Amino acid sequence: MSSQDQAGPAPVSAEDLAARFTQAFGSAPDGVWQAPGRVNLIGEHTDYNEGFVLPFAIDRTARVAIAVRQDRTVRLLSTYGDQGVVTTSLDSLEPGTAKGWTKYPLGVMWALRERGIDVPGLDLLLDSTVPLGAGLSSSHAIECAVISALNDLTAAGLGAEEMVLATQRAENDFVGAPTGIMDQSASLRGAKGHAVFLDCRDQKATLVPFETEPAGLVLLVIDTKVSHSHADGGYASRRASCELGAEVLGVKALRDVQVGDLEEAGGLLDEVTFRRVRHVVTENDRVLQTVELLDGPGPVAIGRLLDASHASMRDDFEISCPELDLAVDTSRANGAIGARMTGGGFGGAAIALTPVDAEQKVRAAVAKAFSDAGFTAPEIFTVSPAAGAMRIS
Ligand code: GLA
Repeated sequence: MSSQDQAGPAPVSAEDLAARFTQAFGSAPDGVWQAPGRVNLIGEHTDYNEGFVLPFAIDRTARVAIAVRQDRTVRLLSTYGDQGVVTTSLDSLEPGTAKGWTKYPLGVMWALRERGIDVPGLDLLLDSTVPLGAGLSSSHAIECAVISALNDLTAAGLGAEEMVLATQRAENDFVGAPTGIMDQSASLRGAKGHAVFLDCRDQKATLVPFETEPAGLVLLVIDTKVSHSHADGGYASRRASCELGAEVLGVKALRDVQVGDLEEAGGLLDEVTFRRVRHVVTENDRVLQTVELLDGPGPVAIGRLLDASHASMRDDFEISCPELDLAVDTSRANGAIGARMTGGGFGGAAIALTPVDAEQKVRAAVAKAFSDAGFTAPEIFTVSPAAGAMRIS
């Protein structure tokens, strides 16, 4: 096993990032900020239905070194080296104008400006160890690092709730992805050894202890390498079905429908909308059950809820894909105590809660199953709950 399987690629240190910034832009940055990607333990497509989610910040981060400029120029560079220095102006920040990863910092600057904050010109160097397109919110990691930096540098004094809404605005109206508030909430509010239990109606967040090691478990992430984009139609169409369901049932949001209401709902909704609604309603219930179990017996008890969540996304919400199903089924058949796809779906990653003793067997079996099926080799690594966004230099 390579060290990358266990710990992931090492991030560029704050000192090295600052040195590379100085080399690229000719003077030192004002500071370096970082924000993590996330894994959602359970609670999928519930956030925009004003329901419950239980994600955690992971030990893979985006880091940005930033210096404020005295003019209206914005210069952006990443260690990916794909686009070179991208130079633009504060005056030309409009939705639809940015390309690649630069959409995320520029989207945040745009959203803050729309909110009336006097955003300065700046130079920015990005490094990230959150895998791109794996469903681990690499985009929100960038956005949350940038908004944390701008909040400090402009002394805007935004609280977590306001930063969550500003990054959501950036995603929805600048990037063009109609996503909810889960990912940025995990990235901004995460804490080591905890998952973030978030009520998406009022943004009330509670940290719930979630540690796999003392329970003799690991949480494996299986990146299927099937890339997805929430700016494509699938995510938006699921969201539209949920809104239709809420309208027909006469509630503000699907959060207001309980498991006991489903039978009656079945008589009011068309067959597909009913299944979409059933996913959201039962998923909200599974989040509440998971929180209760984590507060009691701990992670060993939540496996069946992870399995049920996956089945619901596969059969009712229909956002899984053959690679995700294979990752989940093979993990379960080889010793994982629960597994599910995580994130928005249509690709990305699955998680498998696995006894330490079974880890190697699960890894080998999943790799073999993918190879036998003729799928691209997955990347498999462990994650643990880590700290949320912060300034590191
Ligand atoms: C993506 C979105 C989130 C959430 C999940 C599905 O990650 O960014 O807001 O809707 O999908 O749970």
